[in-house]
Amino acid sequence: MHILVCGGAGYIGSHMAKMLVGLGHSVTVFDNLSTGHRQLVKWGRLVEGDLLRPADLKALFDRERFDGVMHFSARSLVGESIRDPDLYFQNNVTGTENLLRAMREAGLQRFVFSSSAAVYGNPAKGLIDEAHPTKPINPYGETKLRVEEILQSRAAEHGLNSVSLRYFNAAGADPQGETGELHNPETHLIPNVLRAAKGECALQVFGNDYSTPDGTCIRDYIHVNDLCRAHLLALEYMEKKPGAHVFNLGIGKGFSILEIIRAAEKVVGKSIPFTYAPRRPGDPPVLVADSTLARKTLGWQPEYLDQEEIIRTAWSWMAKDRFKL
Ligand code: UFG
Repeated sequence: MHILVCGGAGYIGSHMAKMLVGLGHSVTVFDNLSTGHRQLVKWGRLVEGDLLRPADLKALFDRERFDGVMHFSARSLVGESIRDPDLYFQNNVTGTENLLRAMREAGLQRFVFSSSAAVYGNPAKGLIDEAHPTKPINPYGETKLRVEEILQSRAAEHGLNSVSLRYFNAAGADPQGETGELHNPETHLIPNVLRAAKGECALQVFGNDYSTPDGTCIRDYIHVNDLCRAHLLALEYMEKKPGAHVFNLGIGKGFSILEIIRAAEKVVGKSIPFTYAPRRPGDPPVLVADSTLARKTLGWQPEYLDQEEIIRTAWSWMAKDRFKL
């Protein structure tokens, strides 16, 4: 297959490109390099372009034929989305609409969308399945939900087949250390814990007064390659089942921030200093996926169930002499 990976210069998209090429598929990465990195496009060909410039998309689809599109391009920082919601709606919603239009004009009907647990907002319970009400509490989550709604309409109106994958906390890196997480600024827990282990930053734990056993937030950390494997299954699934589908992706087990720090200490072999800081606005206390639907319907099974193993893959990437941002 020839797959268009939008956002393939980013964290999850670059892992996807590597997996696809490893399986013998060909990959075209479409990325504006606003948050992605040219150096991470090692698998497939990079086409620099912007989803907000329809002419870029037209040129791409006029030139190439694809068997499916995987869409990872998005702004994804909750705090930034609160400060600049317009930026988020433009990039994440208008950009996706442009992409869907270009696909329709090219007669292409297979679309895998990177959605997020952020669509659930402040969940009423710890273990969340897809039937849980969607009530995003920030513009980032709103944009993801809006795209899911658009995909539902496009299935009915234009026969577009899609799978929206609601990621919980993407974590870890390519076990060969050829790609990994590289954000600027870095806001995610595991990279920050490991940066603190390297002495590159002072780790702050945002809130220790949540209603959880140790007072810190609980999340469901899922290895990036497990996410990518679900994308492959999603493409296959659409062949059998047309329509717009939605699946949660998490391992179904939550870990507190302190548990993650302790697991990271075992990986790096030393203690990692941190201080407590006030709660970060918009953080739900507990977010854990019930991914039964993905397991049963897609036949998906996460391979990384041990947090230490996930953190070890992130550490081998971070311990490398990576290029500087
Ligand atoms: N945290 C810290 N210190 C840090 C970084 C994070 O204490 O330096 C805490 C956060 O406050 C949170 C937990 O660690 O309690 C996890 O934070 P992350 O930023 O790693 O991940 P989030 O759960 O906030 O975000 C993830 C995705 C988002 C998505 C969100 C859904 O990265 O894209 O889940 O709620 F929107």
